[in-house]
Amino acid sequence: MAGVSTPALRILIEEFGGCDLYFTEMISSAALIQGGPYEASYIAADPDPDRLIHQLVGFEEASVVRAAEYLDGLPGFGVDFNMGCSAPDIVRAGGGVAWMRDADRARRLAAALRRAVKGKRLSVKLRVGFEDDYPGLLRFCRGLQEEGVDFITLHPRLKKEKFGRLARWDYVGALKRDLSIPVVGNGDIRSFDDYREKKEEHRPDGIMVGRSAARAPWFFAFLRRREREPHREMVVDLEETAGRFLDLLPRHQPADFLESRAKRFFGYFCGNLLFGQGLFTRLNRAPGFSGVEKVVREYFRERPEARWKTEKK
Ligand SMILES: Cc1cc2nc3c(=O)[nH]c(=O)nc-3n(C[C@H](O)[C@H](O)[C@H](O)COP(=O)(O)O)c2cc1C
Repeated sequence: MAGVSTPALRILIEEFGGCDLYFTEMISSAALIQGGPYEASYIAADPDPDRLIHQLVGFEEASVVRAAEYLDGLPGFGVDFNMGCSAPDIVRAGGGVAWMRDADRARRLAAALRRAVKGKRLSVKLRVGFEDDYPGLLRFCRGLQEEGVDFITLHPRLKKEKFGRLARWDYVGALKRDLSIPVVGNGDIRSFDDYREKKEEHRPDGIMVGRSAARAPWFFAFLRRREREPHREMVVDLEETAGRFLDLLPRHQPADFLESRAKRFFGYFCGNLLFGQGLFTRLNRAPGFSGVEKVVREYFRERPEARWKTEKK
């Protein structure tokens, strides 16, 4: 997730027990091959190269393929291509979900990526597309499958749909049934019950979690524990978790990104906290990373009762 799935957050998740695979933030293909000043932090393989997927975003085939060739030579588990992003500036430029407008062009890119990514898994992340048209989505995905894409991740929303509408998980189950490659489902997993229901009802090969992993870096550990012991709660030290994130971030992020990444993370993390909305407003106004740090540390000093959270659901 752009601005969110930083090495610092991934390490924090790992320290709670980790998840099976981590995705980087989307990496601009053009910036990567031009060797931009920030690329080292985007491609960092923390916490574990064997479980790290680099995600590329891009607009035209040649630079995407060159970027994929470069990533193929780095430590990592896989290379993912983003055909799902609906951010207006990305779509306008022809990236993200804009690739879903033209199945033949997407298919040609998949074929070229397959030739470029020789030593790793190749995957694609996508949405339902521009219209509610399952046969069209299936044709699109079959094209990717036939070109050798190893698995797909579906965030089952239309291009125009925001988070206000629930993800259409039926599409995950349908693709799982109709494709022969693995299908990972994604969207709105906020609790153990969400996870269990989606898993049992739609039988995806995997589940990707986005926002809940930033709200609760312990989320994967909690899901695992709940699978073993259905009624067990998990007590989390929020002050220590916030402090650990603040320690990790400057060690793994260029100085120019510290403030934005800290504010993004706490935008989700504040969801755990008493008066979290007010805290987030203060954080957002704080100047620089040191300002964010100060507001967070003050908050816990002033509200010792906010330190512990019992994760129940
Ligand atoms: C702030 C933000 C940044 C995101 N960045 C990316 C990204 O870089 N690549 C991507 O494939 N999806 C990105 N997404 C979409 C998520 O990966 C995911 O599909 C979506 O949030 C639904 O999953 P969730 O309900 O578990 O969060 C982003 C979402 C948000 C909210």
